[in-house]
Amino acid sequence: MRVLSGIQPSGRLHLGNYFGAMRPQIELQAEHDCFYFIANYHALTSLQDRGLLEQFTREVAMGYLALGLDPRRTVFFRQSDVPEVTELSWILSCVTPMGLLQRCHSYKDKIAQGISPSHGLFAYPVLQAADILIYKPNLVPVGQDQKQHIEVTQDIQTKFNQTYAEVFVRPEPLIGSEVAVVPGVDGRKMSKSYDNTIELFCTPKQARKRIMSMLTDSTPVEAPKDPAKCNVLALLRLIASREEVADWEERYRRGGTGYGEAKKRLHELYVEILGPAQERYNALAQNPDEIEDILADGGRRARAVAMQTMEEVRTACGIISTKK
Ligand code: ADP
Ligand code: TRP
Repeated sequence: MRVLSGIQPSGRLHLGNYFGAMRPQIELQAEHDCFYFIANYHALTSLQDRGLLEQFTREVAMGYLALGLDPRRTVFFRQSDVPEVTELSWILSCVTPMGLLQRCHSYKDKIAQGISPSHGLFAYPVLQAADILIYKPNLVPVGQDQKQHIEVTQDIQTKFNQTYAEVFVRPEPLIGSEVAVVPGVDGRKMSKSYDNTIELFCTPKQARKRIMSMLTDSTPVEAPKDPAKCNVLALLRLIASREEVADWEERYRRGGTGYGEAKKRLHELYVEILGPAQERYNALAQNPDEIEDILADGGRRARAVAMQTMEEVRTACGIISTKK
């Protein structure tokens, strides 16, 4: 099956990105035909700083490669290396009802946060639909917060196919239920916009500081604790073995275990599990040409698919092209 996903290079990678998106995406490459890209056009809706956009684009590329994305197996590229996507975005805009976009939570949330909306922010889901539909994927693995955008893509796909011809395939969202929302150090959803993240590629000392600062309640060490209500345990569930998690839950219920102990263990596992990826990340940072070559090769492979779809799209709409 063809699988496709994208991630915006709009900040530093964190554990929420890893457990909610990157890890499940990388696992899928063993069995599927995967296309993963760095959504740099999307990032322009929130990041308008050339240096930072370049830096975060490199960091996302290094992050995926360090965590095990295999660029021979998976087509890994930058969104902007396939310019056909912006052409498709316009064509899809013309079959997208305004109401569909006006209902989008992510747009409404940003307005509620006081962000002054640009047309790009409003049209964001149409660009996302274009960069999904152009590769005709069957599955789109994303975090829970992206579900509505995939549903919008499905609506646009139906609308286009009904208006013109059966060009596009219906994509289905794939959302890992056990990691629907990874909590941050303050207990809210981990997100760069809340400044509550634990970064993926920081030093053990920086990670320790963030983990030790995690918010917990004031239950004394001796007292029993509710395993369902602790953020530290929520992260341990994602990183520790099943047996170890059962043991921590039992210790919480019994009392006599402090939150500090769980935090220390979380830090140990963070270093153990992410340490090897961090070494690969640092090695890649010394080799920017290698990253560039990988992305350029992925871009060529992705573009070949996109160009073919666009031929079908232009023919279906009556856009006569002289390009051959
Ligand atoms: P942020 O919230 O920090 O801005 P993004 O929106 O750029 O993160 O997220 C990139 C990907 O990582 C998306 O697929 C998103 O669903 C996933 N993701 C981000 N934060 C979390 C989280 N706390 N829990 C689960 N998935 C997450
Ligand atoms: N909107 C997604 C996010 O913020 C990123 C994204 C852009 C995406 N295009 C995509 C995800 C296509 C899946 C498929 O996380």
